[in-house]
Amino acid sequence: STINTCFHLKNHFPIEPRPVLTVSPSWLSAGASVTLNCRVKDPSAGWKFYRFKTFPHPSYNFYSYELLPGSSSGTEQDFYIVHGQIHIAGYRCRARRGDPKYSTYYSEPKFVLSADIHSSVSLTVSPDRAQHFTSDSVSLSCEGNSTEWTVRRLLTEDRYPSVCSYWGTMNGSTCNINTDSTSDAVYRCESGSGEFSNAVNITVQDGDMILLSPARPVTEGHSVSLSCKLRSQTFDSIVFFYHNEKVIQNDSRWELNISAVSKSDEGFYKCHHSGQESAQSLMSVQ
Ligand SMILES: *[C@@H]1O[C@H](CO)[C@@H](O)[C@H](O)[C@H]1NC(C)=O
Ligand SMILES: *[C@@H]1O[C@H](CO)[C@@H](O)[C@H](O)[C@H]1NC(C)=O
Ligand SMILES: *[C@@H]1O[C@H](CO)[C@@H](O)[C@H](O)[C@H]1NC(C)=O
Repeated sequence: STINTCFHLKNHFPIEPRPVLTVSPSWLSAGASVTLNCRVKDPSAGWKFYRFKTFPHPSYNFYSYELLPGSSSGTEQDFYIVHGQIHIAGYRCRARRGDPKYSTYYSEPKFVLSADIHSSVSLTVSPDRAQHFTSDSVSLSCEGNSTEWTVRRLLTEDRYPSVCSYWGTMNGSTCNINTDSTSDAVYRCESGSGEFSNAVNITVQDGDMILLSPARPVTEGHSVSLSCKLRSQTFDSIVFFYHNEKVIQNDSRWELNISAVSKSDEGFYKCHHSGQESAQSLMSVQ
């Protein structure tokens, strides 16, 4: 009868493969709009598209989802624009067809993130840098008006978002981790009342050299210092610093100092020393 049940369900509600959801942009600043595009394999006719957004709760590892407001009867277009006050959220979609009756699985979730630091909720990284060596101890701390926090790991291509207790140790509002290659991800805090913090990119290197650059956006006019760090030895020759692939300093200093940051300093930085090169990290300016 199990087989019969499957057969029965299959004939009445055949399930199509997952649609693919794209969100663009995936990193955005306040006031922008986001386009959600839900693609099915056979885009011919008769599909109706439904979009869902995350409904977070810090004690669940996974998210639950609710239909976007006004989306309960679906739309015929496969794209949808979320205007104005964006929920810094995760989205999924699914598609249905009437006759014969088809319903797809939910798409994989896609997230919209913001690096901007809001006044009410924020995530800080300690030590404050975007790149870390494997087996470094890193603390991710949540600040804001909540007694119930979690830190979630997001936006890696093939890993589901999961909460700190799965890969680190939560102590009060701080998540402590010992980095390994799976720590290469985007992190953010979520409060008990469903508020999100800025999101932070963390890169973990098992090589010998990293670039020390701020994990969070730097404020225009402030000074900033980027430096290059080797796992073991110290530098004994020229260190090259690159901004967007262009050499901007090459001498024996391990540090690149910018006394007053401006928007033109935004971009990707990396360093290079006697045949070794660090990964590059984005420094954003707000
Ligand atoms: C995070 O990293 C990704 C991949 O390198 C990059 O595209 C994105 O712009 C970064 N965002 C921030 C805010 O650093
Ligand atoms: C945090 O809560 C306190 C007390 O309820 C309140 O006075 C303060 O304005 C709140 N701060 C923010 C940033 O919401
Ligand atoms: C949690 O953090 C507090 C305050 O920083 C510290 O005193 C305490 O030892 C930590 N607990 C654990 C189990 O690490």
